[in-house]
Amino acid sequence: MPTSDLALPPAFYPTTSPASFCRADFGADFRWGVASAAYQIEGFGDCEGKGPSIWDAFVTRRGRIRGGEHGGAACEFYRRWPADLDLLAALGVPHLRFSAAWSRVLPAGTGRVNQAGLDYYEQLVDGCLARGITPWLTLYHWDLPLALERRGGWTNRAVVGWLSEYADLLARRLGDRVPYWMVLNEPMVFTGAGHLLGVHAPGRRSLGAFLAATHHAALAQAEGGRALRAALPAGAQIGTTFSCSYLTPARADHPRDVAATRRADALLNRLFVEPALGLGYPMADLPVLRWLERYGLAGDEARLPFAFDFLGVQNYTREVVRFSPWVPLLWATLIKAERRGVPFTTMGWEVFPESLYYMLRQFASYPNAPRLVVTENGAAFPDPPPANGRVTDPARQAYLQACLGQVLRARREGLPVDGYFAWSFTDNFEWAEGYRPRFGLVHVDYPTQQRTVKDSGRWYQQLLRSEAELTAAERHFPAHSH
Ligand code: FCB
Repeated sequence: MPTSDLALPPAFYPTTSPASFCRADFGADFRWGVASAAYQIEGFGDCEGKGPSIWDAFVTRRGRIRGGEHGGAACEFYRRWPADLDLLAALGVPHLRFSAAWSRVLPAGTGRVNQAGLDYYEQLVDGCLARGITPWLTLYHWDLPLALERRGGWTNRAVVGWLSEYADLLARRLGDRVPYWMVLNEPMVFTGAGHLLGVHAPGRRSLGAFLAATHHAALAQAEGGRALRAALPAGAQIGTTFSCSYLTPARADHPRDVAATRRADALLNRLFVEPALGLGYPMADLPVLRWLERYGLAGDEARLPFAFDFLGVQNYTREVVRFSPWVPLLWATLIKAERRGVPFTTMGWEVFPESLYYMLRQFASYPNAPRLVVTENGAAFPDPPPANGRVTDPARQAYLQACLGQVLRARREGLPVDGYFAWSFTDNFEWAEGYRPRFGLVHVDYPTQQRTVKDSGRWYQQLLRSEAELTAAERHFPAHSH
């Protein structure tokens, strides 16, 4: 079971001064939400006809997940969603990003449909709409059906068709009610962590598997977009999401660190978005990417781009890069925050809100960039346990507030950023790190499944209340800028 976290001394908390703003500063059309993912919250992984996914299998492998934890129960969202949506509505959060578990609706990944799984997502969508919450659906948040992994998974080019079949199914069933769709969640992470480093499902450790998965995921993000476009009503908004981190060289006057940073940027920030935008893979800055051509077929170049309506930017930190002779092909290494004497989170990620601004700038700088939405941003800190119905989490609130300040800065400069989703609604199963990192605006006591809104959640609620609802005294919170 999850261990409880201990509070850290105040000196640990980020010092970034929070920007002063209120909801209205972002404009009436800005979308405010919270984000989640199926395997991290649902539990009930083998219920009502659901097939196993690669995460159901991966968590059973010894030593892969901190403390041997797994998403078997997680937040029991599969059963508790009505109460959780009530809570979200009470917090006044108008948009919810969640993912569907592919193997809940297609237990073998393709072919036979599990009606109970489809019904579940239909009820969830209707439950959102009934409460005035707009659903944003991610098709693939890392939980490939295990049956497809047994057929090669992302290393098998057939995955492009499998994903399109799944996209078509959900779009036909839910397209009349879900206005926002995302094809993939962070392809760099599930290809890199899952196929090269072996620290995420499916746990492969091979450059060949990584390159094959990369090309197929890049094709699948575009083909999945086309499958959605063909099946969704006109006006549906189709996006896909990308992990990204602002990168700086360890020594700015050191040409080898600067070159290493450029290579790392090609790999970590540009690899999937550039083919989607019709720019091809960033091979000029990372020569090993030429090997991706081994997995290509005639005509692939024309299939990689797709005219997404929005790009999901997901940012948590920055990275400091140094040349390394020990990392073949990339010749770069990331210097851990704890070795740099900077504040960092439970994940070991440096607290650096400006990273979000720089990444929005980088994504917006592509000539044909569509609108941007921050589809994930947040932080895990060692929250104290609930006391008298409260969880005091000033570090998270300060981080979110500082990041929103950076989003506002981007908007004020005219960058096309239209929305912001805090990761995450509730604490949840944080992949290989298990339950220890707590990212939620809402605390979950896993043994009892009790929810407690954290102070950061109350702050978000307060921020989201419309100006009209605020009393004169409340208008000063958060401090108003004009
Ligand atoms: C992102 C993932 C999300 C969550 C956060 C902390 O990379 O998309 O599921 O784990 O990190």
